[in-house]
Amino acid sequence: MGGNLLRLRDLSLAEIEAILDQAQDFCDGEKYQKLAGKIVCNLFFEPSTRTLYSFQVAQERLGLKVISFNPGSSSLQKDESFYDTVKTFDSFGADLLVIRHSQNEYYNELVDKVSTPIINGGDGTGQHPTQSLLDLLTIRQEFGHLDGLSVAIIGDIAHSRVAHTNFEIMKRFGMQVYTSGPPEYMEEGMNFIPFEQALIRCDIIMALRIQHERHQMKFNMSLEEYHQTYGLNAQNVDLMRKSAIIMHPAPVNRNVEIADELVESSRSRIFKQMQNGVFVRMAVIRYALGGD
Ligand code: CP
Repeated sequence: MGGNLLRLRDLSLAEIEAILDQAQDFCDGEKYQKLAGKIVCNLFFEPSTRTLYSFQVAQERLGLKVISFNPGSSSLQKDESFYDTVKTFDSFGADLLVIRHSQNEYYNELVDKVSTPIINGGDGTGQHPTQSLLDLLTIRQEFGHLDGLSVAIIGDIAHSRVAHTNFEIMKRFGMQVYTSGPPEYMEEGMNFIPFEQALIRCDIIMALRIQHERHQMKFNMSLEEYHQTYGLNAQNVDLMRKSAIIMHPAPVNRNVEIADELVESSRSRIFKQMQNGVFVRMAVIRYALGGD
């Protein structure tokens, strides 16, 4: 075990289950300080609240020394490249880098040139491995298993790294994975289902934010219209199975993809997902640093 964690497809299901088991142990109160004192640099070239700061909480809980890079006050402002910025932290002798960048597969230019292990905190519309791991942990806690469950991912599928990563890994774990939302944001081969059918049929409804910052063209639907057509609300939530839950990677745009009153309702696991993010990231750091 150990090294880079860039895409979940690089890990076997047994390795992923071991990470989820370790995350559950952290959730249940396990303490782990064998990595204390190691230096981790969080290099986020894109905005983040949950991923950046839950990594930071995870790192503090493991006793690591944390350096959080601020692009706005760095030499990126003097036209230093992404590559040279990462190489700089590598040359400092950091023990671990956590990187988020808007470029899909940004890591391809780093893997043979940077010796410090890298955890991917999200690449463009590509992958968000730690988000998927915390989603899997949340589902496993809820249902006790993954195999055979059905999930519908609703919204801006085309621009969502969460949708892409979850579609792939959830299928590998034997889940039925569907997508739904505005036709212009659906993707070929991603098992489209009409929104109402998704609500009726699935164990998990995962709403997504419209990723306006990644759109080439302005979205041609008002936010009110989107909410009426694809948003979860007090009426259509009654179509869901009694045992079904609502998830969302957040940030949430309340009253767009989900009504304000549902965000913290009994069906919602949105803040549970955030809580699990800390435990999953502790487990992933232990994995990347090869902790025994
Ligand atoms: N879910 C997620 O990645 O949130 P942030 O963009 O705030 O990190």
